[in-house]
Amino acid sequence: MDQKLKGQTAIITGASSGIGSGVARALAAAGASVVVNYPTAATEAAASGVLEEIKGQGGAGIVYQCDVSKESEVVKMFADVVKQFGTVDILVNNAGLQRDASFHEMSLEQWNMVLGINLTGQFLCAREAIREFLRRGIVPARSKAAGKIICMSSVHEVIPWAGHANYAASKGGIMMMMKSIAQEYAPHKIRVNSIGPGAIKTPINHQAWDTPEAEKKLLELIPYNRVGVVEDIGAAAVWLASDDSDYVNGTTLFVDGGMTLYPGFSTNG
Ligand code: BGC
Repeated sequence: MDQKLKGQTAIITGASSGIGSGVARALAAAGASVVVNYPTAATEAAASGVLEEIKGQGGAGIVYQCDVSKESEVVKMFADVVKQFGTVDILVNNAGLQRDASFHEMSLEQWNMVLGINLTGQFLCAREAIREFLRRGIVPARSKAAGKIICMSSVHEVIPWAGHANYAASKGGIMMMMKSIAQEYAPHKIRVNSIGPGAIKTPINHQAWDTPEAEKKLLELIPYNRVGVVEDIGAAAVWLASDDSDYVNGTTLFVDGGMTLYPGFSTNG
């Protein structure tokens, strides 16, 4: 593969599984040194497995435990990575989870946990990344930009989702945070964009595709008629992190097989 990200360091949060692991593998294949972030001791083995795979393919990186919702841990992660690699060029703000409940039964804990990791976690990591990008400035040999942030959003930044109000609120929040910081730091040559995945086969949504009946029902929402895989998101992340997308700033790239085309309207309305 083309080494478009050669010499660059990328932090991928929540990279021990799912979309984050696919993005880490793709960025490493494109030449970046990757920091495979994982949240708790329980996910350390999975993160190490992702890194072993990356190294097996000739890639480079480290694993790093940090709960992105904790300010002190995020500050320390960035400081340690800068100490080890010299700087950070790319942040993939990926860590996220669902704690689904009917709205009238949703606990404050379920609400706070999802907002804390999905939205506050992205704020804390983006803030540290921007501080580092401002400190370092542009290094022309590596990239035309002073730094790139990719926020993992969702089709649910625009599609309401009954039974998932906390999750949809977090993704809607990510959209406006992403656009606001893209606007604020564009003059500093910092690019901030989102990827809006649709249904991608990962543990977060396995019940939506792991039986033939469930998958058939899910495909009714996907005009392109296949459920996505993490490699679909990895390829989009490499493009958004590379200079190929140098004029792309403040946008969400939906990678969703057309889920945001509201397929219900193809036969109704
Ligand atoms: C959610 C998945 C869901 C997909 C499409 C994602 O953001 O995490 O659970 O399958 O959106 O609805």
